[in-house]
Amino acid sequence: MPFAAVALSLAAHTFADNKPGEIHIAFGNDSQTAMSVVWQTATPTAAPTVQYGTSRSSLGKTAKATRSRYAYETKAIAEAKLTGLLAGTTYYYRVGDKTGGWSEVFSFRTAPRDPKEFTFTAFGDHGVGPVPVKITEDLQKEKPAFNLLLGDISYANGDQPIWDAYLQQIQPFASRVPFMPTIGNHENEEIKKDGKETKIGYVSYLARFALPQAESHYTFDYGAARFVAFNSDDFANPTELAWLKTTLAAARQNKRVKWLVVFQHHPPYGSSKKRGDNVDIIKSVVPIYDKYKVDLVLCGHNHHYERQFPLRAGVITDSGLTGYRRQAGTVYIVQGGGGRELYDFAETKPAMTACREMVNGYLRVTVRKSGPLTIEAKRLDRSLIERFEIKG
Ligand SMILES: [Fe+2]
Repeated sequence: MPFAAVALSLAAHTFADNKPGEIHIAFGNDSQTAMSVVWQTATPTAAPTVQYGTSRSSLGKTAKATRSRYAYETKAIAEAKLTGLLAGTTYYYRVGDKTGGWSEVFSFRTAPRDPKEFTFTAFGDHGVGPVPVKITEDLQKEKPAFNLLLGDISYANGDQPIWDAYLQQIQPFASRVPFMPTIGNHENEEIKKDGKETKIGYVSYLARFALPQAESHYTFDYGAARFVAFNSDDFANPTELAWLKTTLAAARQNKRVKWLVVFQHHPPYGSSKKRGDNVDIIKSVVPIYDKYKVDLVLCGHNHHYERQFPLRAGVITDSGLTGYRRQAGTVYIVQGGGGRELYDFAETKPAMTACREMVNGYLRVTVRKSGPLTIEAKRLDRSLIERFEIKG
């Protein structure tokens, strides 16, 4: 859908007819066999359901949805879990029911059993507006297996209808491509009540997404890679850190996991003018990444692109620009250029920064079972900022 059409449909979706909107999908507990679908209607309908099947003309299977409620809800959230799916298969689906009406038919593809290679996309700091719409249009052209959203998602900041505008905005993309978010500082919301700001925490995020395991942090596998969503907004919480250690240890004991990718909002390293390195995260989280030889840590928070050379304990292990040995160091990347105002860099580029550019964009990563991991950092027009590889 062209940009103008997306903007128009955003404005036009009033929910007056109680038809489903804000439709988005995410992998369930197993990316090969399970998918979650979430949508909203203006008011609760009698029997919200997903009808689905392996051909567009035959949606013979059904999954009943449950209500996902929170104290500040704007409409009625329906959440359905599709399980027992076939790996590597295209499914067609629509959501709704007789009383509210049905959505159009969308399709998604489950993870194949043992793909030789696949591509995913990632970026953070999204929000509502023309640049955020353009980013998801670019992503659709990349044909990713799924997208990681690196925190700071809608920028609702407590204003709940902004979540509705956001989820309607991403529907053309997120109804077809699993949209796997992690928590940023803007998901930790405050609302104005009786003239006072009241912290409501992550309740909107938790109600509006259906994700694998505990939704504040989770893992999923796709091919030879394991993806770990870490809540860096709560990194000092001993429970979070204990979960991270256990999760990474288990990943490294699993012979099927060749590539280990963590995605979180707050970067440990960075040279934005607004904020430099995060010394607390460097002290408490980076040693865990070093110990378990995490291949990639993908972050947002700073609204630009910045990538470090591979590091161990903050020391560069390889100063080449385009190719690195696997597990020799961890590569940290900031891609927070998803659509908000850009951040300038501090004048001096740190020695550990391999590449930085103040631009909107996203990451396109190709993962191979045998062969290298290829990372392409792209601008909004899909042109290349840089390409590098971690050898397989
Ligand atoms: Fe942020």
